[in-house]
Amino acid sequence: MIQRNKEWRNSMRLKLDINNMMEKIIGKNGFTDTELVNMKMQATEAFQFVEDNRGKGMMEWTNLPNNQDAVVKDILSTAKEVRKKFKYFVILGIGGSALGPYALFKALCHLHHNELPASKRKAPKFYVEDNIDPERMNALLDIIEPEKTCFNIITKSGTTSETMAQFLIIYDVLSKLLGDKASENIIATTDSSKGALLKLAQKYQYKTFYIDSGVGGRFSLLSPVGLFPAAVLGLDIKGFLQGAEYLDNTYRKPHLYKNPALLAATLQYMAEKKGKNINVLMPYADGLKYFSDWYAQLWAESLGKNKKLDGSSCSPVGQTPVKALGVTDQHSQVQLYVDGPNDKVITFLTVQDFRSFCLIPRCNLNIAEINFLEGQSLNELIQAEQHATEYALFKVGRQNMTITLPQVNEFTLGELIYFFELQTAYMGALLEIDTYNQPGVEEGKVATFALMGKFGYEDKRHELANIKKDIRYVVE
Ligand code: PA5
Repeated sequence: MIQRNKEWRNSMRLKLDINNMMEKIIGKNGFTDTELVNMKMQATEAFQFVEDNRGKGMMEWTNLPNNQDAVVKDILSTAKEVRKKFKYFVILGIGGSALGPYALFKALCHLHHNELPASKRKAPKFYVEDNIDPERMNALLDIIEPEKTCFNIITKSGTTSETMAQFLIIYDVLSKLLGDKASENIIATTDSSKGALLKLAQKYQYKTFYIDSGVGGRFSLLSPVGLFPAAVLGLDIKGFLQGAEYLDNTYRKPHLYKNPALLAATLQYMAEKKGKNINVLMPYADGLKYFSDWYAQLWAESLGKNKKLDGSSCSPVGQTPVKALGVTDQHSQVQLYVDGPNDKVITFLTVQDFRSFCLIPRCNLNIAEINFLEGQSLNELIQAEQHATEYALFKVGRQNMTITLPQVNEFTLGELIYFFELQTAYMGALLEIDTYNQPGVEEGKVATFALMGKFGYEDKRHELANIKKDIRYVVE
């Protein structure tokens, strides 16, 4: 159990360094103090907009850090049973119903969790199936024993084609193997009031966790969507909620320099206005690699819009999120960040104390080119390389900022999740768009229904067939 007295919490506070966004540090490509001060009014309004909407409509995610005592109890006892009974745990879900749980798994479990012998694992083998590539489903069925597997079907809407197609395949497999007992291997996580999965859960009496209707997929990580799988993995789920609550309580202020999420959103907004259309998140920790996937969805789906909040058209907005991993992508993307078009803001995620230490031993090989490495550690090397990349960008005046996590644990991840959710909400308010809809995704969902022959989508099917007829530019 994590020690969480006041002193410990304060020692776990995230730090945001924006020096390399500013002219005084990086030169003419940075923002002047005056430019930032001029944003004060708009930032305060964005803060107030988020405040006024907290807990309402699609902003019920703001309630999650402190309204889940009963559900946390239920999650913990169910997870304990799952750990005892099952050898495998498989999530069927997509988008906001998959990216977050996978990010938490990779961030906090052994990097080779599934390969560890059972005696060294506290939890079942863990898989997140967020695609419908037929090869992938068959590959999964090749390596698990379905009768020893708990399937957590996660879908907020309860009708997403990908997830429900996966569900049907698994339902069939389990029914053939276990008959009426198949229900014991299925746990549903879905909207509390609607959707096909809810109907099925009621009919077949699946254990069900509910997502409040005002919590959208990409803002649902701190709901049972993320908490239940994390609890199955033996993670301290109260830690996530306490970290989120701590961040919220500490920084819920309308002042740029007292509210880092507001400051970061404001800087991204200013950058986007100046043509920085690319938002790179670059963690320097393998465990955080998949956090960038979760973040990319949050940023892209929330902010890529062409309508104002009142429904009127506006010029398309939204930075394209790019995922990069330090140091791996230093040898892949950093050349472009330094010398390519100046259209990016890079946010580094760094870790002060890694959970692991790895010495580079003194082998006394006496090779001049590598002698300097001997006796140091990978911990020092990865930190030095992050500073070096930051420096390379600073030298050419490329804007970047750094978020430092004192450690990677449940509490700091709770802070980070909430930080990015707030940053997105503030950015949406600055852009005056609807952060919580996704009409572009819905269009694709409807077209899939039509193409797959769903009842009621005949007109759309007709429309699609006609477009296809017009296609002339196909090379075979
Ligand atoms: O953020 C969102 O709302 C979406 O990305 C959803 O998470 C995604 O489309 C999956 O939807 P659902 O959870 O309803 O299956």
